[in-house]
Amino acid sequence: MKKSVPLVVGNWKLNPVTLKEAIALGAAVAKKHKKAEEPCVAIAPPFPYLSDVGKKISKSSVSLAAQDVYFKNIGAHTGEVSVLQLKDLGVKYVIIGHSERRAMGETDEEVKQKTQITLKHLLTPIVCVGERERDELGNFFSFVESQLRNLSEVFTSIQIKKVVIAYEPIWAIGTGNTATADDVKEMQLFIESVLTKLYDRPTAKNVRLIYGGSVKPDNARTLQSEGGMNGFLVGGASLKAEDFASIIKAVS
Ligand code: 13P
Repeated sequence: MKKSVPLVVGNWKLNPVTLKEAIALGAAVAKKHKKAEEPCVAIAPPFPYLSDVGKKISKSSVSLAAQDVYFKNIGAHTGEVSVLQLKDLGVKYVIIGHSERRAMGETDEEVKQKTQITLKHLLTPIVCVGERERDELGNFFSFVESQLRNLSEVFTSIQIKKVVIAYEPIWAIGTGNTATADDVKEMQLFIESVLTKLYDRPTAKNVRLIYGGSVKPDNARTLQSEGGMNGFLVGGASLKAEDFASIIKAVS
């Protein structure tokens, strides 16, 4: 996956309610993206739908993503799902450390371990970072920096280049309060400067950054063209095939 090719991922979260609706949504997304090469597009349905939705999109250019993964492959871990199981279903991307999971207690250590096992089995981790609120003192920068530093403790330059970093400020998720293109641009430059410090400039330039938080058809074009990141992690708007298609079009 070249960094220059934008990536748009639909995170369905705990939606929809039935398998029938999930299959219909998957089919509608696939129909709109039969063989387009750019941008890369993926959808992340809930675990129980991965297999059926995966079959629906298999002849399209849409890839399958998972919303989480466990950091062990096998054993007595009730309720967990392993990367090998995901891989077997055709999953290509795994969202890790989403703020909604961190809010339920997921730690930096777990984010690292999940990212490690995902890379080990050649799937692409999409690691979410982002602050709860923007304060006047700019403490949110050090918050994001600490999340990046956590990754740099274990990942080499070669490995980090295989990780997608999704900047998702928590205050913008599901609220309609989208970050402005200036906010996104500022964070893109900041993340690159931190990665330059932790690794080096060529590495920083080669880590794919995407933005998430109230991305909609009407703000996607500006966020993409002026925000400096290269794609989106979309929640609510990915549940309507039309809206998701407009967002994809905006980045193409
Ligand atoms: P919304 O697009 O609904 O704000 O969700 C963003 C998100 O959390 C994607 O992972």
